[in-house]
Amino acid sequence: MTIFDWPARMAQMAEFVGFTDDDLALVRESGPILLARADELTSAVYEYLMKFPATARFFLTPEGDVDEIRLERRKHSLARWLTHSIDFRIDEQFPVFLLAISVVHSNPSLERGYLGSVPARFMIGTMSFAQTAIASVLSEEMADPVRVLQTSMAWNKLLMLQLDVLLAGYVNETPVPATEMPGQNDSDGTPEGAEAEGMRQVLTNILDGNRENGTAQGE
Ligand code: HEM
Repeated sequence: MTIFDWPARMAQMAEFVGFTDDDLALVRESGPILLARADELTSAVYEYLMKFPATARFFLTPEGDVDEIRLERRKHSLARWLTHSIDFRIDEQFPVFLLAISVVHSNPSLERGYLGSVPARFMIGTMSFAQTAIASVLSEEMADPVRVLQTSMAWNKLLMLQLDVLLAGYVNETPVPATEMPGQNDSDGTPEGAEAEGMRQVLTNILDGNRENGTAQGE
């Protein structure tokens, strides 16, 4: 079974992308500016997703109407994500928060099964949109252009760290399962690859473990 130490992975990625304590301080400092315009930011994301048929379909009812209730709920979820991002820290909780979001997109609920997964490329594209939208707000609201650039760079790194975990739900742990060893066709044992759990199971285990410990983050 594969074990992922998600906080360690995030710490490694933070080091790799060069996300420092100074970056974290800049992100925190920008919190009030971004939160003051959170409604506008989250609406912009969903207006964007609604512009393209390939993404808009995830917010339509089976009859093809815009699912306003769902859309409004999603705006709230995204605002919560923004708040958590401003409070970002690499602890046991943050990866779990992201993994839960990841699974929702990669593994649709039964009710939404007919839509299939949100394609991973749109998760990447939405992150790109979020980076640009955040940079625009910062440049409109902050006086010092150098500070705008530094803060925007800090956000870009932070969002890439998050994207790594958000895409985890899409990863197949063993894309090519092991086949039998040559000359062992008569063995009745299961090839090792066939026992490999899918990433979904791995994530479910993590989330279950977290719930059992009573440490799930959320509101
Ligand atoms: C940066 C990328 C994205 C982030 C951070 C994000 C964030 C979230 C969050 C926080 C939720 C609520 C999860 C929950 O119920 O606990 C959610 C749900 C959802 N998101 Fe996203 N999202 C992203 C991209 C997308 C894209 C690209 C699409 C579709 C094209 C999409 C479609 C949905 C749908 C349909 C749900 C509801 C799932 C359900 O209730 O079954 N999201 N998202």
